[in-house]
Amino acid sequence: MSLSAHQSARMKNDEWLTPPEILRPLGRFDLDPCAPIEPPWATAATQFSILDDGLSKPWGGRVWLNPPFGREAVVWLRRLAAHGNGIALIPARTETAMFFEAVWGVADAVCFIKGRPHFHYVDGRRAPFNSGAPIALIAYGIDNEQILRESGLGHVVSAK
Ligand SMILES: C[S@@+](CC[C@H](N)C(=O)[O-])C[C@H]1O[C@@H](n2cnc3c(N)ncnc32)[C@H](O)[C@@H]1O
Repeated sequence: MSLSAHQSARMKNDEWLTPPEILRPLGRFDLDPCAPIEPPWATAATQFSILDDGLSKPWGGRVWLNPPFGREAVVWLRRLAAHGNGIALIPARTETAMFFEAVWGVADAVCFIKGRPHFHYVDGRRAPFNSGAPIALIAYGIDNEQILRESGLGHVVSAK
């Protein structure tokens, strides 16, 4: 197994938290629909956990979305695309069905993050290894595209 594949395998669960240095330049969010039950820090003014089931709730305002991994990620991204206001963090697998369904031609912009982030454990500790894969931020709404362009987090391209 390559180092990269090994690290990706180590990250295969849902509880990897977004590094604060990625969230900080993106500003304040109204809603994180998929947050831990006991988050070590706030990602948005309102946070839904698995106990609330964020998919079953109404979404309002500017949404931060780092969805559960795997096949169900597309369901969350589809929901954000329909909502139209927010930023998502997903692996930069630009050739996948998920990208073609909910990003290319649908979102406003994609930011390819510079470097591989170190995600955090659910208790807030930073993982000693990186994501093992490239990561992208997806903007829905032109205000969110502008914020990505000003964030300094990576290279931004239009998705339309
Ligand atoms: C990749 S983590 C991201 C956590 C946080 N949003 C962040 O950006 O740091 C995905 C989170 O979704 C939560 N989750 C999984 N299924 C969920 C559901 N149906 N409703 C709400 N949250 C859920 C997991 O418990 C986990 O905390």
